Amino acid sequence: MADLLLGQTLRFAGNPTTEGPEAGRHSARGGVLIEAGRIAAVGEADDLRRAHPGARVTDYGDALISAGFIDAHAHYPQTAMIASWGKRLIDWLNSYTFPEEMRFSDPAYAAGIARTYFDLTIANGTTTVCSYCTIHPESVEAFFEEARRRGARAYAGKTCMDRNAPEGLRDTPQSAYDDSKRLRDRWHGVERLNYVLTPRFSPTSSEAQLEALGALWAESPGLLMQTHLSEQTDEVAWVRALFPTARDYLDTYERFGLLGPGALYGHAIYLEPREHARLKDVDASLIHCPTSNTFIGSGLFDMDGMTRGGYRVGLATDTGGGSSFSMLRTIAAAYEVAQLRHRALHPAELWWLATQGSARALRAEDRIGNLAPGMEADIAVIDLASTPAIAQRAARAGDIWEALFPTIMMGDDRAIRAVWINGKPVL
Ligand code: GUN
Ligand code: ZN
Repeated sequence: MADLLLGQTLRFAGNPTTEGPEAGRHSARGGVLIEAGRIAAVGEADDLRRAHPGARVTDYGDALISAGFIDAHAHYPQTAMIASWGKRLIDWLNSYTFPEEMRFSDPAYAAGIARTYFDLTIANGTTTVCSYCTIHPESVEAFFEEARRRGARAYAGKTCMDRNAPEGLRDTPQSAYDDSKRLRDRWHGVERLNYVLTPRFSPTSSEAQLEALGALWAESPGLLMQTHLSEQTDEVAWVRALFPTARDYLDTYERFGLLGPGALYGHAIYLEPREHARLKDVDASLIHCPTSNTFIGSGLFDMDGMTRGGYRVGLATDTGGGSSFSMLRTIAAAYEVAQLRHRALHPAELWWLATQGSARALRAEDRIGNLAPGMEADIAVIDLASTPAIAQRAARAGDIWEALFPTIMMGDDRAIRAVWINGKPVL
């Protein structure tokens, strides 16, 4: 049976970071028709009711129906150590992250955290995540099993690292190649699941490992590849010392075949002109992780320069380096980081980045991240008056952007009224 969701609706007819806020399309009394897991129609509530009298109606009143959020970079194994105090990147990895990731050799532990992680992300209106796992194949199994159980479109890969990590948390060039290939063959394209080749970052991979993974990527047409790039100045200096002949950080990937369309680079804060030019040439994706960049003290991503320059940019929590599972908190942090660079991102740009922008970064913009006929029915319904503070401010709003901005800046999981995944209500 078809479902008809009624409420305010927000969709995008274009890209507001280049075309302006007019690319957003709002209806004060709209509807979304869902059939067989897909969006069949988007329009005015009265028209859709008349045209589909047999549809089961769920009326969300004044709440805003939007595409669900897409978190383009996360580490689900870091769920239980989010908000760990007082360190910068390298110390933070060694003190908190690696000991926690060690525990994922236990399939039962991995399954428990995967369940908690999907509970938390769905409660926050996130319908697709692109996650790192740990070096353990068991951690990938646990993630994909849980994503499949929820019916979610999901992206993940085995994190590969064979140096500068503790005993018990290192693979080898050969085992990284073999395990990644086996997991790719087992999971990629199963239902809505997507395998992503995942070298952690060049400091934790030997040249032999980067070369092996470059070879595997070349043998895997259509597969995404995710890693980290130029997140912190100490890290950039370390990369320079580890790869003395590399032209820059990006070259440590490029020279091994790990640069191309379908590459996702987390952070990308400290880039040289050559790196900018190459990323643009190949149309790689840059993933902005603002709560992580402030929490770990990394720096200020140049969103204005990237969007004006036409780069492919996605938005992400980077949990547990990021300090929240909420894409609303992440959007607010993106606004604040851009303010520190003297650019006020418009609510239309912010909302687009968390939905279509991230979908575009994952090269899935034709399937997820927008309300349009034919798109997969992954939807978040947002209460625009979820707390007294937000409600009293939103009551003064003159248009949808003013009505939305208090929720962007002050909202959290209390603002998530409902979530639909694959055409089914899950919250
Ligand atoms: N760089 C390499 N690994 C990580 C990680 O787990 N989190 C963050 N924020 N940066 C990284
Ligand atoms: Zn990360």
